Amino acid sequence: MAEMVRKASAFEIFNHWVLAISCLLLALSGYGFLFKLEGITALFGGANAMKDIHNYLGIVFTLSLFLSIFNWLKDALSFDSDDIKWIACAGGYLSKHPKVPPMGKLNTGQKLYYLALLAFGIAIAISGFVIWLMPGQRNYIILSHLVHNISFVVLMIAVPVHIYLATIANPGTFRIMVYGTVPYKWAAKRHPKWIQELSHGK
Ligand code: HEM
Repeated sequence: MAEMVRKASAFEIFNHWVLAISCLLLALSGYGFLFKLEGITALFGGANAMKDIHNYLGIVFTLSLFLSIFNWLKDALSFDSDDIKWIACAGGYLSKHPKVPPMGKLNTGQKLYYLALLAFGIAIAISGFVIWLMPGQRNYIILSHLVHNISFVVLMIAVPVHIYLATIANPGTFRIMVYGTVPYKWAAKRHPKWIQELSHGK
């Protein structure tokens, strides 16, 4: 059997699924509210139940977003000149014979995705709690609706791109979120700086 290397711990796998499932259910119920879609409302047991489910899922999403800091923030904040080169060649996605600079545990796109998720996730969570818990505060509520909707649009573009890149576009990646491991050769090709760090025991 091929030699394997661990890219995600059991906790990281669990927290990713809590984050992903809560985010997707929040998005679905959010669409239900936004476009008054009866089919979706019925799926959640009616408008009142959907509102309650949306609010409490917001707590789950916020907690797992907070815990995700321990999964990814340190790697997402470590930028160097290879990240500039990665952006300059668009990660090699637009070229037939790409020359992609060596990457660490996360590539530049993954780092930017995480930082965007964190920023807009915090914005959507705070604005959601204001709308839910401060019903008398008209000005805050108006501002919060604006922030909530803008964050929703950004996440609804970023998340499907992430799902596509983590599955069909990059075969071998999805297993990280199921088993936590990848073949050593796969990792050495895509994340050589990370493999180097591992072999130097950093
Ligand atoms: C349900 C479909 C999803 C699938 C199949 C999926 C798959 C994956 C995989 C395989 C990784 C590991 C990539 C690596 O370590 O190289 C990953 C990482 C990650 N996922 Fe997901 N994911 C999904 C949904 C989500 C959602 C909805 C969110 C956000 C709310 C999210 C946030 C993240 C973040 C922040 C990372 C780390 C950065 C990155 O690798 O891009 N994922 N995901």
